[in-house]
Amino acid sequence: MLRSALLNVMIKAVHKAGRMLKRDFGEVEHLQVSLKGPANFVTAADRRAEELLREELDRARPGYSFLGEESGKHEGSDKTHTWIVDPLDGTMNFLHGIPHFAVSLALEREGAIVAGIVYNPATDELYTAERGKGAFLNERRLRVSARHRLADAVIACGLPHPSRGNALVDRQDTIAVQERVAGLRRFGAAALDLAWVAAGRLDGYWERGLSPWDAAAGIALVREAGGYATHLVGGETPHVTGDIVAGNETIHRELMRTLKEAGKAA
Ligand code: IPD
Ligand code: CA
Ligand code: CA
Repeated sequence: MLRSALLNVMIKAVHKAGRMLKRDFGEVEHLQVSLKGPANFVTAADRRAEELLREELDRARPGYSFLGEESGKHEGSDKTHTWIVDPLDGTMNFLHGIPHFAVSLALEREGAIVAGIVYNPATDELYTAERGKGAFLNERRLRVSARHRLADAVIACGLPHPSRGNALVDRQDTIAVQERVAGLRRFGAAALDLAWVAAGRLDGYWERGLSPWDAAAGIALVREAGGYATHLVGGETPHVTGDIVAGNETIHRELMRTLKEAGKAA
């Protein structure tokens, strides 16, 4: 498979970070049973992975700006390009020895996401997308699911800790969706939720209160797989607003409608 120079740069960086996280994940499984627990170790692993990504990306594309969950915004000499990075999405899973976590890396050019990669080192699943060139899982071209009835759909969501967001709204959302779908899931890694929508494993997904690094790469994947990823009421930059709904054309529309009605009832 012929990949662009840009994707090759991005893949090299996420593979390096992924290898490190995989080693650390092995360690976490041991720490699970220790009295101290793995929390501090995981925080350090998270930071190290982001540093590594930043070094790699800086070397390949000097001057690009960088926005990372751990270290924040670094303005480069080139302000039109920004890497958007979550070195470890699904921290809670990682911490508990659950092999469902990912490195998420996107490139934003003049406000638009032009490429996105989500990599789960535990399963070696590499999701890649570049604007206009399609989305792939390893070598396989991706397409969003073809299910069109909410009643047949498996939908994933995010459930923020009650200390964040509005717990009542979240409850209304989940009740309304759960009543209409075949199955509701909560996997705990937003980047992988979106990647799985792109892969057609999930028919749809929504979450409120995300940060740009959770969603930017996954949005590129969904769109390049022929799906829709928008703000809950339809805006095109959900990685900025943080509230997102994704799916194929019909499931996306139906999910949006369901959440809007749930909002009125709340
Ligand atoms: C979190 C995960 C989770 C989502 C949260 C995110 P983190 O990211 O993506 O699935 O529900 O909103 O903050 O903290 O594991 O990088
Ligand atoms: Ca995240
Ligand atoms: Ca993270």
